[in-house]
Amino acid sequence: MAEKLAIDDGTPVLQRSDYKNWPIITDDDRRLVNEVLDSGILAGGTAPQVSALEKAWAQYTGAKYCLTTTSGTAALHMALAAVGVGPGDEVITSAFTFLASASCALHQNAIPVFVDIDARTYNMDPAKLEAVINERTKAIIPVHIQGLPADLDPIMEIARKHNLYVIEDACQAHGATYKGRKVGTFGDIGTFSLNNFKNLCGGEGGLFITDSETYLNKGVLIRCFGDEVDEVSHRRLYNASILGYMYRNQELPAALAHAQLMHLDERNEARIANANYLTRELSKIPGVIPPYCPPECKHVYFLYNVRFDPRVAGVDCEPRRFRIAVEKALYKEGALVGQWQTRPVPGQDLFQSKLGYGGSSYPWVVNEAKGIKYTYNLDDYPVTNELCDTYTIVHGIHPPNSTALIDKIVVAFHKVFSNLGQTLSHADDAIYPGADGKLYGTG
Ligand SMILES: Cc1ncc(COP(=O)(O)O)c(C=O)c1O
Repeated sequence: MAEKLAIDDGTPVLQRSDYKNWPIITDDDRRLVNEVLDSGILAGGTAPQVSALEKAWAQYTGAKYCLTTTSGTAALHMALAAVGVGPGDEVITSAFTFLASASCALHQNAIPVFVDIDARTYNMDPAKLEAVINERTKAIIPVHIQGLPADLDPIMEIARKHNLYVIEDACQAHGATYKGRKVGTFGDIGTFSLNNFKNLCGGEGGLFITDSETYLNKGVLIRCFGDEVDEVSHRRLYNASILGYMYRNQELPAALAHAQLMHLDERNEARIANANYLTRELSKIPGVIPPYCPPECKHVYFLYNVRFDPRVAGVDCEPRRFRIAVEKALYKEGALVGQWQTRPVPGQDLFQSKLGYGGSSYPWVVNEAKGIKYTYNLDDYPVTNELCDTYTIVHGIHPPNSTALIDKIVVAFHKVFSNLGQTLSHADDAIYPGADGKLYGTG
């Protein structure tokens, strides 16, 4: 007799209490945070914890210089400003990413252009890159999506050929490597987020790394209002030489991120072990497609992505409908699953309406006034569209969760896939609430 699914009032496989939260807080965090409180120094561009984090992150990644910022978005914007991207320039990024990989260009009055993704890695497809490069293109922002490095060799080669800057969006990929080298160190500047959910967390915050003294110095200016500092006395002169912003990080998040960094490698290894175990088990279920990691990459699994193929699962169902039905049944079994991006970024209203500054069509109008037309046509991103129809995120891959949790998640998958008739009978019911990203680790 078929097992009764939780969606049909059967007993769920998992409870919320099976999931442990992220980040892990230890005495290292308490010690460094208390040092800040005891020191009485809470902020400052060269304050002790900010400087210590910058030194430690440069050392960890192998970059010459590091600046910590208020967020990953701030680091991305600072990077574009530091290399001199400006009004009317085009900046290329991936269609499957978080908004900030593209909105950082708008913040600099430049125009985001998107490329579709590779069907296995979900990263920018280098084979589609040259088709969108033109005389206005200034920079490429490869994103190391969900913790997997983008295919950097061909991207860097194309960038060199066309004389373009490369700003790596490594906001989801702390510690990931491409051919043995840490991501963030391939392009002109690398950027990272320190938000609550990231593999390296400071609550909020960001990191900007570079080997260029010029970009470092520009970054220091841009991070603090464009204010010049006297070279001898190190005092601020309150004379803005360029347009800057207020992107300075604070001592408490910097201290927390520094303490978390002491455990980054061990926690990444635990994520990788959980992910590999889950991949091994899910591969046994026809119609479930676990994430792929090319042999030259180290994937650090910020997010664990699975796709579903109804044909391989042996059912005749439209793929999007199938994914929603399976997601709903898994969720009712207590497995925290749910989508992250629900459409290609160029499909968001901001790009469809092009009302950049809440009513004006700036910055697109800079070039449209010269007769260049920008339309973000979703048909240009077929692989991203297909992914968005068919994927879900399996939460809980991070430590201290271990195989005890993963085993239960696997049981939930088997239960649902052994009862696809029951599962699909709920395909048209109201949408389930979705996994709670606040508690369980998206960003
Ligand atoms: C790919 C990507 N880029 C940029 C960002 C922006 O980072 P932050 O939230 O720290 O501004 C994020 C954060 O979620 C991200 O996932």
